[in-house]
This record gives sequence, C-alpha cells and structure tokens, in this order.
Amino acid sequence: VSTANHTIDKGPVLLGVIGDPIAHSKSPVMMAAAFRAAGIEGEYRRLHVKPDQLKQTLQDIREQGFHGINVTIPHKVAVMDYLDELDEAAEKIGAVNTIVHANGRLKGYNTDGAGYVRSLREEAVPELAGRTVMLLGAGGASRGIVHALLQELPQRVMIVNRTEDKARQLAGEFSAEIPVEGYSMEQAHRCLPGVDILINTTSVGMHPRTEDMPLPVELIPEGIVVSDLIYNPLETRLLRESRVQRGCMVHGGLGMFVYQGAIAFEHWLGFRPDVQVMRQAVLDSLA
Ligand code: ATR
Repeated sequence: VSTANHTIDKGPVLLGVIGDPIAHSKSPVMMAAAFRAAGIEGEYRRLHVKPDQLKQTLQDIREQGFHGINVTIPHKVAVMDYLDELDEAAEKIGAVNTIVHANGRLKGYNTDGAGYVRSLREEAVPELAGRTVMLLGAGGASRGIVHALLQELPQRVMIVNRTEDKARQLAGEFSAEIPVEGYSMEQAHRCLPGVDILINTTSVGMHPRTEDMPLPVELIPEGIVVSDLIYNPLETRLLRESRVQRGCMVHGGLGMFVYQGAIAFEHWLGFRPDVQVMRQAVLDSLA
C-alpha cells in the first residue's frame, strides 16, 4: 500500500462512491466513521451513475476536485478506460474499485483481493504460507482473491467452478511458481480432503436465497477454515453448518468489505484508519 505521497494536507477531503444501484452501499457510513475517528474533515458522497453516464462522471470527478473515488458494480471494468494509470494489481486483475486523483491524474487500484486477504489473516489465519486453498467460483471476485493470495505463498490454489472452463482459464492465467489448478464441482469432491482453507466467492447463499449451499457440508473436512465473501447474512448457511456440523473455524465476508475500504483510505490519505470503528459502523447500519 502506498505511503504518504497521496496525503491531502489542506482543506476538507472530498471522496465518493460510484455504482448502479448505489442506494444500499454501506461505504458512506463506513467512511464517515473512519474520518471521524481520524479527526479528518471529509465528505464521502454516494453517486448514482448509470453506465452511459460513466465517462462524463469521470470528467466531473476531475473538475470538481474529488481526491478519490470507490467504484462498485457495474463499473469496475469499464472505468479503466477513463484512467491515466493503473496499479499493477488492478491491471492483472482487470478491475478497479479505488481511484486516486492526485497531481491532475487518475490512478486505478484494486483493493478487493488485498482487502479479503488482510481480513482472512487478521481474523482467521495469520499465516497463509504453505496452506492449500480451494476457491469456489471463478468470476471477478475470485480473480482478485487469487491474485492477492498468491502474494502470500500458499502451497497450492484450487479454483472450482460450476462452469469448469472458466476455472481452468483463470487458473492458467495465474499459474506461477505455486500451482493454480481449475476443477469442476464433481472433481472438487475428490480434492477436498487435502484442503486447509475453503473460500466461497460465489453468490450462492446470499440474501434472499439464504438456504442455498454451494456444496454439501458433508464433503467439508472437519476442522478446516471455511470462509465466505457474503456478508448478508453475516453467517451464511455454509458457515453455520461448517461450524456446527464439521467443527470448522469460520470467517464471514464483512471483514473483506471493511478492509477493502481501509486499504482505499490508505491510498487516499497515506495512513491506516481505525478498522474496528469502520466495522462497527457497518454493523450498526445493518442492524
Ligand atoms: P463476482 O464478480 O461476484 O465474482 P461473477 O463474475 O458474475 O460475479 O461470477 C459469479 C461466480 O459465481 C461464477 O463463478 C459463477 O459460476 P459460473 O461461472 O458457472 O456462472 C458462480 N455462481 C453464481 N451462481 C451460482 C450457482 N447458483 N451455482 C454455482 N455457481 C454459481
């Protein structure tokens, strides 16, 4: 994460989030709490931007002096066309969720994968090196996490997807010194016994279809770590049954949301915000 080179040293900070829909975004309440805790005078605006307004919005962001922007669905890929520069991770992942506006230039970052991995390390697995990880899903969320995970030197990464081709393609793209392999759901059954950490990156189990399971709980090895990117509900059925029936340590998706925001904050302001305050603000707004 960048250091103080982006630090904003005069006047109130102007930030925001663009997305469509955007009304339910928890980012404004989370960032407001982070600013308060840091004693910063800042405004974080919620901007409802339709795809056909994206180009003009980026122009407005430059002209109106925004210091930074978060980007959410459906703009994470398209927004790259309107930036001056991309961070290496954002380029490799092929998606941007954070923009820094400094010295008249817009630079894109992706803090989703790194935010997820920081959350996993802080809340469940301090040391990821040497672990065998299985991800369910091969979409955009999975891409970011595979990229960030590989920086932690796991022993092996398996990507399992309903559409096997997408798993294989993603694995092929990221295969490095560490083996990254793609499998179908059926093949996953065979691989599960060697897995230390299972991560659900699919939307299966998300509100309102909270009874859906991405795979049968009986297949999950006892006592492993099971993680889910979903944070609505805070504990998915996958996590609850893994915990109760398989004695697993479980890790929910709220931390990913908090840390992706915390790393964005660091890119904008040059120091770490209070993540506990941010987490509590999101929890309070969910209640
Ligand atoms: P995201 O950016 O959240 O990852 P995405 O790029 O649309 O969203 O990817 C969604 C992922 O969840 C995919 O891996 C998808 O599987 P397919 O590639 O086979 O479509 C997976 N997914 C979504 N709904 C699913 C379901 N009901 N069962 C299994 N996998 C599902």
